[in-house]
Amino acid sequence: TYVVTDACIRCKYMDCVEVCPVDCFYEGENMLVINPNECIDCGVCEPECPAEAILPDTEADTDKWVELNSKMSESWPNITVKKDSPADADEFKGKENKFEEYFS
Ligand code: SF4
Ligand code: F3S
Repeated sequence: TYVVTDACIRCKYMDCVEVCPVDCFYEGENMLVINPNECIDCGVCEPECPAEAILPDTEADTDKWVELNSKMSESWPNITVKKDSPADADEFKGKENKFEEYFS
C-alpha cells in the first residue's frame, strides 16, 4: 500500500484524490489518508503530491503511517474530488513536527 504521511498536514493540496483509480482517499480536517485495504499500489498518486507526503509502505519507518492511515480511513469521509487547499498551505510545506502540533 501507499500511505499519506505528516507532510500532508495543513498543506492538503488534494491533487492526489484526482488521480486515484479506486478513490481510496479519506479526509480529515488537516490531512488526508489512504485506506490501505483499498489501495491497489498503482503508485500514480505519489508524484502528484506537491508536499511529497505520499510514500509506499516499502520505505523505512512507515509502520506508524500505515497504522494511522488504516485507523483514520475507517471514520473519515471519502474524498474523490479536489477542493481548495488551505490559503496558507505553502507556509506549512516541509515544516517539521506537524503531526505533534497540528494533526486533526
Ligand atoms: Fe490510489 Fe494508486 Fe495512490 Fe493507492 S497508490 S492511493 S490506488 S493512486
Ligand atoms: Fe496531502 Fe499531498 Fe494529497 S498534501 S492532500 S497527500 S496531494
